[in-house]
Amino acid sequence: MKLFRCRICGDPYLGASAPSFCPFCGAPERYMVPAEEYQDRNLVPDLSARSRANLEKALELEVGNASFYMCASACSPDPVSQAMFKALAKAESEHASVICKILRAPKPEIKPDDKACRKDDKANFASSHEREKRAVAFYRQAAEEAVEERVKEVFAALTEIESYHIALSETRK
Ligand SMILES: [Fe+2]
Ligand SMILES: [Fe+2]
Repeated sequence: MKLFRCRICGDPYLGASAPSFCPFCGAPERYMVPAEEYQDRNLVPDLSARSRANLEKALELEVGNASFYMCASACSPDPVSQAMFKALAKAESEHASVICKILRAPKPEIKPDDKACRKDDKANFASSHEREKRAVAFYRQAAEEAVEERVKEVFAALTEIESYHIALSETRK
């Protein structure tokens, strides 16, 4: 067994080899590094006003999506959908954590948003699809606007991860 760390969320992973996707934030394998090579790059001095505003908006978006997925998981009658929404809630919550680390802000408490989801899986997957599409469009723009290497990297990774989430919702809506 070896110890790896994710360059996006920083979480440690024990396994024979690097996972194809980070089990915590969903970043693809190329972001997984041997723990000895990991460097914490979340201290970004002199965050630009634009990046700060984009990170704050991203935090709101991630917290909103995590709350939605928690609700969707709790409301679903189907065990597979429950598990899928739970996995997505965990990934979005992890994204919120990374953003808070860069913003040097405490992580807000994330609770299921009972008004955001419905009792109907199909409607929730359709809503998931719209949420992830909005996220991808915003993160792509935020990555372009970022002048700090670390902020650019995180927004680029989030763009990629949320694109995989869109593909997931497409198989189920
Ligand atoms: Fe990760
Ligand atoms: Fe996310």
